[in-house]
Amino acid sequence: MESLKLTNIVKRFGDLTVLDGLSVELPLTGITFVVGKSGSGKSVLCRLAVGLLKPDEGTVELLGERVDQLPERRLVALRARVPYLVQGPALLDWLTLEANVALAGKGSANPSRVSRALEQMGLHALKDRFPPQVGPGIRKRTAIARALVLEPTCLLLDEPTTGLDLVAAGQVNEALEAVRAAGLGAVVVSHDYAALERLADRVVEVRQGAIGYQGGKTGFLNAPK
Ligand SMILES: Nc1ncnc2c1ncn2[C@@H]1O[C@H](COP(=O)(O)OP(=O)(O)OP(=O)(O)O)[C@@H](O)[C@H]1O
Ligand SMILES: [Mg+2]
Repeated sequence: MESLKLTNIVKRFGDLTVLDGLSVELPLTGITFVVGKSGSGKSVLCRLAVGLLKPDEGTVELLGERVDQLPERRLVALRARVPYLVQGPALLDWLTLEANVALAGKGSANPSRVSRALEQMGLHALKDRFPPQVGPGIRKRTAIARALVLEPTCLLLDEPTTGLDLVAAGQVNEALEAVRAAGLGAVVVSHDYAALERLADRVVEVRQGAIGYQGGKTGFLNAPK
């Protein structure tokens, strides 16, 4: 099955136990929202998913591969299938949006794929601009376009709208709709409950080192907090 499966994960930093026996299996189809308080371990979970961090205990399987055991070379290939878009800025300000998208796969991107990704993200008319000349929503869309060049199965997005104004957040949420329409999955870490209500096919909540809720968005939004 195309999934991210975490089993009995324990992750500590010194005396701090961030994840404490967390188990969950997320399908990589549709849009999954990952929620939880600040500091609950959502970004740590993302990094574990793509092998940027190793768990102290437990196993991580992504698309059937044991991420916690794979050598770096194989992880690079896996990250092309499930690109991780980090929290915060990700573009090079001295390159055009098009050139930023073409950086995918260390600059060996096929020009027609670059062009298609720009189109999918509605960026064609803006491709010759530089990141400081466009707003944060367009910059995030450019980062998504760069990931799309890799022809991924699913995107892993860490707080793509946090800190953005309503217009910019709307531009990113539209991009997520386009990702879904293209038949790709997305796992989205987010505090944006309006976006969750509109876009989520399922919700997973990280709470006290484990999974606090897992299920549909209606159940999540109606649950007593
Ligand atoms: N490399 C690290 N070394 C030490 N502590 C870390 C490291 N990475 C994360 N932590 C700690 O682990 C906890 C979880 O961090 P994480 O970034 O996953 O939270 P989060 O749920 O993503 O929060 P936010 O919503 O603010 O982004 C925090 O207390 C954080 O300080
Ligand atoms: Mg985080």
